[in-house]
Amino acid sequence: MEDLRVPNHVAIILDGNGRWAKAHGLPRKLGHKAGCENLEQIVEDAARLGIGYLTVYGFSTENWKRSADEVGALMQLFRYYMRKLLKVAMANNVRVKMIGEESRFDDDIIDGIDTLVRETRNNTGMTFVIAVNYGGRDEITRGVRRLAKDVAAGSLNPDAITEETIQSYLDTAEIPDPDLMIRTSGEQRLSNYLMWQMAYTELYFTDVYWPDFHKEDLVRAIEIYNERDRRFGGR
Ligand code: IPE
Ligand code: IPE
Ligand code: MG
Repeated sequence: MEDLRVPNHVAIILDGNGRWAKAHGLPRKLGHKAGCENLEQIVEDAARLGIGYLTVYGFSTENWKRSADEVGALMQLFRYYMRKLLKVAMANNVRVKMIGEESRFDDDIIDGIDTLVRETRNNTGMTFVIAVNYGGRDEITRGVRRLAKDVAAGSLNPDAITEETIQSYLDTAEIPDPDLMIRTSGEQRLSNYLMWQMAYTELYFTDVYWPDFHKEDLVRAIEIYNERDRRFGGR
């Protein structure tokens, strides 16, 4: 633990809330509540471990397809936990950012997001990035739309477009690429998460359901990351 190299950016797909609830004989929404409570703790743990950026997938562009009842319960949890998260962020010097397309949310949720980002913007510790109504393909599509408008307006020369140009049109323009991606609950897919940004990210999968994923599991993932020989195409 002493000489653990802590990755600068850890991205998490917090999965398995529903199965955790089922295993405990509880309704799915109580699984999501347990997941939110666990997230609060992991934010604090990650900040204390010295992680620079923590990005979590909270709600995908595909998650609207879930039942109205479940989507409604998730929205209620966002309302409540955004206020709690403001306190956690202030207490831990954490700066909050959002990625995704927020306009589909109700106005009070958008206000809550804006408040969280504004109130924490001068914090100098870990950056906590929440992906809500986020999809990697949607992010790239929105970015390309803006880029195309700039080309049409004459402010961007198509021949001058580089990978950095494209990066600058993404929601993550100011955020470095993830070094380590963790997905809980045994699923081994990306589910449209950070498709551009994870070109060289190390992937770590665990069977643990998200509400049961604690600091020791995060440390274990970082230890395994430390054992890997990171290559970027060169050698
Ligand atoms: C992850 O848990 C939380 C969200 C996607 C919002 P799930 O709700 O996907 O839980 P499972 O996969 O059904 O167990
Ligand atoms: C991915 O989990 C999205 C979030 C964790 C918010 P899902 O549980 O929705 O993904 P799939 O549908 O199993 O791929
Ligand atoms: Mg799931």
